[in-house]
Amino acid sequence: KYQRVVLGIETSCDETGAAVVDENRKIHGEALFSQKEIHLRTGGIIPSVARQLHKEKIDHVVTKAVLSSGISLHDISAIATTVKPGLALCLEVGLSYSLNLVKHFKKPLIPIHHMEAHALTIRLLHQLEFPFLVLLISGGHCILSVVNGVTDFLLLGQSLDESPGEALDKVARRLSLSKQAECSSMSGGESIEYLAQFGDKKFTKQNPPMAQYQDCNFSFSGLRSHYERLIEMQENKEGIQKGEMLSCAADIASSFQHSVAHHLAKRTQRAILFCKKEGLLPPLKTSLAVPGLHTRYGLKVVSGGVGSNQYIRQVLQNLTDDMNMSLLCPPPQLCTDNGVMIAWNGVERLCAGAGVLKNAHNIRYEPR
Ligand code: KG4
Ligand code: ZN
Repeated sequence: KYQRVVLGIETSCDETGAAVVDENRKIHGEALFSQKEIHLRTGGIIPSVARQLHKEKIDHVVTKAVLSSGISLHDISAIATTVKPGLALCLEVGLSYSLNLVKHFKKPLIPIHHMEAHALTIRLLHQLEFPFLVLLISGGHCILSVVNGVTDFLLLGQSLDESPGEALDKVARRLSLSKQAECSSMSGGESIEYLAQFGDKKFTKQNPPMAQYQDCNFSFSGLRSHYERLIEMQENKEGIQKGEMLSCAADIASSFQHSVAHHLAKRTQRAILFCKKEGLLPPLKTSLAVPGLHTRYGLKVVSGGVGSNQYIRQVLQNLTDDMNMSLLCPPPQLCTDNGVMIAWNGVERLCAGAGVLKNAHNIRYEPR
């Protein structure tokens, strides 16, 4: 017999995800349908198209996750579903599907905050105690936060304009990377990472954003428009048409990725210094079940789609090494959106007795 086992459902953006996870960290079953390739063709997510795709796929995805788990829905403890933040039209699909299941199988519903789920994913992989510092970098967010508990997050900083994922996606689009055969099925961020390996990161130098501000917030729009202007200048210089590949595209990708990584590292460094000064991150306990981490001062976790970028991870690794901290990152498939992280957040909330709705038929949520 299973103790606590949760079905998680994710539809906040462009992935339809579902998974069955138990309190012993076992993933019994999972399924994911990504709409990314479809949205790449239209140059961005059209919410009504995304909603339609979620509608078409959700039953298949949930059924696949449940069947592959070998656990009957009757034996599941609760259903966890992303209710915010995200695209309202998309969230609605997962929520109404979940509410039907909740009603039919008489299960509790656990509403999940998508970013909290990203932040807690690491505890599915490691027996990691609170508190820890987390950097969430995705297509929709850029957040630095101290995680003090399952429902206790101290926000230290966030982007004042766009997210790093958005900036990477826009530059990738401006370079027409999705028209290149090698990049045709990659997200913007992935194609920048791919191309960057062939380029010179010192191609152009850009002052780090927000250097004059003594806080932990981020800004990516100025950096992004600097590179967009540069692309335009180079296009004029080379006399090529929009849509053709620039000869220096790899250098631009490499240098832009470098600038994004360094801005992330600079602001994270400020956050670490602040945490040390305020005693927000105590030294790690030796009982921690992460080998080799017990001598370190504290722990930082990086997650979200942009967190799967190996160059950015390396820059952050160098930073944490310098500051006598440890860095943990979930594997790429758990950094991007998925059902597993939602199910796990459900398990965490169920174990903490936090936000479990027994009678959820008329749940209200605020789409953001
Ligand atoms: O977390 P995520 O899957 O969705 C949300 O935004 O919630 O993140 C998607 C973002 C996209 O902007 C994508 O370009 C970026 O993550 N991304 C990457 C990489 N893989 C995905 N950015 C840089 N390097 C990557 N390898
Ligand atoms: Zn996400």
